[in-house]
Amino acid sequence: MKHIDNIPSTPGKFKMEKSPYNRLRLHSSLAKLTFWSFVFLGLIFVFFYRSPSSSSTGSLPSDLSRRSLRTSSYGDPAWEKRIKASAKVRATNGMSVLVTGAAGFVGTHVSSALKRRGDGVLGLDNFNDYYDQSLKRARQALLERSGVYIVEGDINDVTLLKKLFDIVPFTHVMHLAAQAGVRYAMENPSSYVHSNIAGLVSVLEVCKSVNPQPAIVWASSSSVYGLNTKVPFSERDRTDNPASLYAATKKAGEEIAHTYNHIYGLSLTGLRFFTVYGPWGRPDMAYFFFTKDILKGKAIQIFEAPNHGTVARDFTYIDDIVKGCLAALDTAEKSTGSGGKKKGSAQLRVYNLGNTSPVPVSDLVSILERLLKVKAKRTIMKLPRNGDVQFTHANISLAQRELGYKPTTDLQTGLKKFVRWYLSYYGNGKKSAQ
Ligand SMILES: *[C@@H]1O[C@H](CO)[C@@H](O)[C@H](O)[C@H]1NC(C)=O
Repeated sequence: MKHIDNIPSTPGKFKMEKSPYNRLRLHSSLAKLTFWSFVFLGLIFVFFYRSPSSSSTGSLPSDLSRRSLRTSSYGDPAWEKRIKASAKVRATNGMSVLVTGAAGFVGTHVSSALKRRGDGVLGLDNFNDYYDQSLKRARQALLERSGVYIVEGDINDVTLLKKLFDIVPFTHVMHLAAQAGVRYAMENPSSYVHSNIAGLVSVLEVCKSVNPQPAIVWASSSSVYGLNTKVPFSERDRTDNPASLYAATKKAGEEIAHTYNHIYGLSLTGLRFFTVYGPWGRPDMAYFFFTKDILKGKAIQIFEAPNHGTVARDFTYIDDIVKGCLAALDTAEKSTGSGGKKKGSAQLRVYNLGNTSPVPVSDLVSILERLLKVKAKRTIMKLPRNGDVQFTHANISLAQRELGYKPTTDLQTGLKKFVRWYLSYYGNGKKSAQ
């Protein structure tokens, strides 16, 4: 009421406050205020008791305990100490990197490589249940042993992100958190919008407002080339024929990156990954579940394009991708803005990170058969029109020239390493992947 009293009131109003009618109104409004305060407090109470299960972080039941776990340690000195220790730079001229999606396939490998060479690394991951969470936990344990701590939280949680920047003034952000997968978009479209669009904006909002602004390297996707038929795919080709919602959200990400670079001077590098595979990979990818099904003696479906056309992928081994990610971080220029304002033009880049040698999916299966010493039960199916494209093939000359990127692992060699990991992790097929 105080600030209302300070407002010079008109003589007419002053008069009204003196009238008995107005006093009555004042009383009833006080009663109303009290009543609504109670209702409001009640709502807050109900909200806090219900919010974990109704949270929008992918609406995953498993988030419940995780979120409250994170909230309970949120801001306590031991938590901050772990964060600082993990992000501590040991190498001269090393960087401090916030890696989102750190418990993911690429996130784990990139975090571990950065840590090995003496950079400071802090992970962030929401451990959602899109695929087997125990695999994510195992990756987390792996990182923990090398001194990388993963904060459990969502990239949409701006308060948490700001808090992390308060604790560590990150020089770089490696933004890998995303909703992956092409076909799952038909089951859960909103999770793509939530992670790949809203989540990206949330990360960029925080990056633009902190001081100093970090440089950002983030994961786009080869899927932005969509239904393009001109090969190999080059960064200058058009990317307006997406074949899946996943591709559309990654394409949207590239446009959003342009905006934040243009308005706020954020240094931004998007990496278009081409079918990344290897040890600790994602169980939703073909090479992974083919391995599982071949070992189980289960039939596998191999897609074929119309007129017996070959479906091929430019499979890229994880170690090559990691080298590309590190090179992108190393060559990233500083952001130019401060206090949310742009001071000059900043770097904006996009690179293909592929292997430049597409392999037909049927050849992938033959390699797996040899490595597993088991014959696959093949079923040939028509390529469904629900997101998968017939082939991908990267032109990597730009990344070669500007990042010194040069993939060195062919599919045979890479799959051999994957199979060795798979058999040791899942105990020779006795404990199979979920
Ligand atoms: C690959 O891309 C570069 C531009 O980065 C272009 O000059 C070159 O012609 C492309 N190569 C092919 C085979 O399309």
